Amino acid sequence: MMRKKIIAGNWKMNKTPSEAYEFAKSMASSFDSEKAEVILCPPFVALQPVLEAVKGTHIQVGSQNMFHEDAGAYTGEISAKMLVDLGVSHVIIGHSERREYFGETDKTVNLKVKKALSSGLVPIICVGERLTEREQGITMELVRLQTKVAYEGLTAQDAEKTVIAYEPVWAIGTGKTATSAQAQEVCAEIRLAIASVFGQETADKIRILYGGSVNAANAKELFSMPDIDGGLVGGASLKAEFEQVIHF
Ligand code: PGA
Repeated sequence: MMRKKIIAGNWKMNKTPSEAYEFAKSMASSFDSEKAEVILCPPFVALQPVLEAVKGTHIQVGSQNMFHEDAGAYTGEISAKMLVDLGVSHVIIGHSERREYFGETDKTVNLKVKKALSSGLVPIICVGERLTEREQGITMELVRLQTKVAYEGLTAQDAEKTVIAYEPVWAIGTGKTATSAQAQEVCAEIRLAIASVFGQETADKIRILYGGSVNAANAKELFSMPDIDGGLVGGASLKAEFEQVIHF
């Protein structure tokens, strides 16, 4: 099964709209990767400038979050419909920082995944264990559960459109990348969990990314593992190094 790789840059709360435009513009001018789909995920206020900067290229744009309601009295929130109207194609859902600092749970992740899909956005669903959970030996159980709840109520047809990012929390922004064997082991388990609900054919179509201190030096090895279909890249996506990650 050939799955086209995805490299998504999660800029988190970095770059002003003008900085984001400049960076995206310079990437767009030298971008020529056939190897992977590339998705830039800037802060909400930089979505429009980044969309403008990558116009006419194959670079796609995603947001880092959204709310699951269509409209209404939800001060400070952004709906899927607003993102689609701008031209955004992807949305990161349930990043561990959202779970940790903004109270997101497996249940809210599920609501957001359903809304993203029904709105025509591709959700990039984040799962992953904390260090204490790895030490307790419950990584697989936890990641299976996070995955199953995120996909609750979806049809196989919808599930196929999703992307998952396995991001061990202890590897995020720490420089402590999971070894390719550790990352592969969990990504394979995620694919099994999906297969047990939707069947192997569906599971084989879903792109499963690894995230957590991916950089130019480790990308190639990680992305060559059989169940790792690319990466969700934080720190390294903010600098020129990202071009090397894309051309892994
Ligand atoms: P990092 O972040 O590459 O800086 O570790 C990855 C992420 O949180 O998506």
